[in-house]
Amino acid sequence: MIFYIIRGMYLVLLNSVDFIFGNIIEVGHQKIANNFGVKNFYHGEAPFWFDLVLFYGGQAIFFYIIWKLYQIGFTPLDRVQDLTDVGWGDGSKRAAANRIREIQRIRKSNELPPVYPNGWFAVAESRNIPKKQVISVSCLGETFAVFRGDDGKINILDAFCPHMGANMAVGGVVKGNCLECPFHGWLFDGKNGVCSHIPYAKKVPDFAKVRRWPSDERNGMVFVWYDAEGRPPQWTVPAIKEIENGEYPYRGRTEHKILAHIQEIPENGSDLAHLGHLHTPNIMKGTDLAVALTANKLLDFIHHEWDGVWKPLEAPNEHRAEVTLSHSIPMFGFKPKMMDVHVRAEQVERDIMIWNNKIFPTKPMFVAEDKLIPRFRRWYSQFYSKNSPRFGGFRKEGLDW
Ligand code: FES
Ligand SMILES: [Fe+2]
Repeated sequence: MIFYIIRGMYLVLLNSVDFIFGNIIEVGHQKIANNFGVKNFYHGEAPFWFDLVLFYGGQAIFFYIIWKLYQIGFTPLDRVQDLTDVGWGDGSKRAAANRIREIQRIRKSNELPPVYPNGWFAVAESRNIPKKQVISVSCLGETFAVFRGDDGKINILDAFCPHMGANMAVGGVVKGNCLECPFHGWLFDGKNGVCSHIPYAKKVPDFAKVRRWPSDERNGMVFVWYDAEGRPPQWTVPAIKEIENGEYPYRGRTEHKILAHIQEIPENGSDLAHLGHLHTPNIMKGTDLAVALTANKLLDFIHHEWDGVWKPLEAPNEHRAEVTLSHSIPMFGFKPKMMDVHVRAEQVERDIMIWNNKIFPTKPMFVAEDKLIPRFRRWYSQFYSKNSPRFGGFRKEGLDW
């Protein structure tokens, strides 16, 4: 039955293509005929190459457009940008790579806050880990084996096997709710990291276990709990109702790699003064700051106006803060209501150019109007603890925060 429906649809499509391009050919032939002063230059009288190019070329373009429309309508629009793609101005990728090395050299590591704050970190998307699947994730200075057992639950173990160091997420096999190392077949329980089976040993010693990391799955994402003191999770990731009940299906995302301390990004929300400068020029002036912040008579007829509030929440949600932004575009004295989602996505790339190139001063020169930033810093310090790792312990090129 399905076969006949698909076949029927295919025939209808072919007929439509034939009709559309048949007519285009007729018109094309007639134009040629007119140019050459011939009266009846119809289908069949044109040179062979003309039919070939117009008909098959036309069909190729037609199917390409259908394919693109399908992609836009039915597949997620992912905009994934590499470190050298955004935030370096107009230069080449090679120039960006040189600049990255230079910045890593000149940044003073002793001035930075600890590199990894305590808390939940998204390490994967749920849809990428079906049952019995394991993936290797390197972040937070660790390498994790993230896998989904037969019970449908996610488990996270240290990826490197304590036996002889194989990466269990590369070639390892999920068996029940355990992960089997690909090197000698030791089997580790996802619930506690304990080794339950060594295929060639009479007895499994008590010390045979691997570190297990607390994990959670919310909003289509897999989270790992990181705490420098080894404490269990101190809070849970809040669920976004519309994602959990399927009202907001996945339609794509933007993803950027950024050369900055992780604290810089949330700090931006408390830095209200930068909104009125960096994010004011017309979005059409782009994200290269040398262009965006220079006066341009043609493009300065509109600009963006922002207003914002940053506020930490009360206990028991003191680990959360709220940023509320309002945005308008005055145009010839009017403020038309606009969708500002797109504007924000593009505007972040202006921040990225700042983040990539800045340093993190421990004693910034704040004026009274900057008062939210020191407040943010005091609030954010709750995520660092005595044993939080400092930058000096990591390779300078480490970008895995
Ligand atoms: S290295 Fe994993 S079982 Fe030997
Ligand atoms: Fe910003």
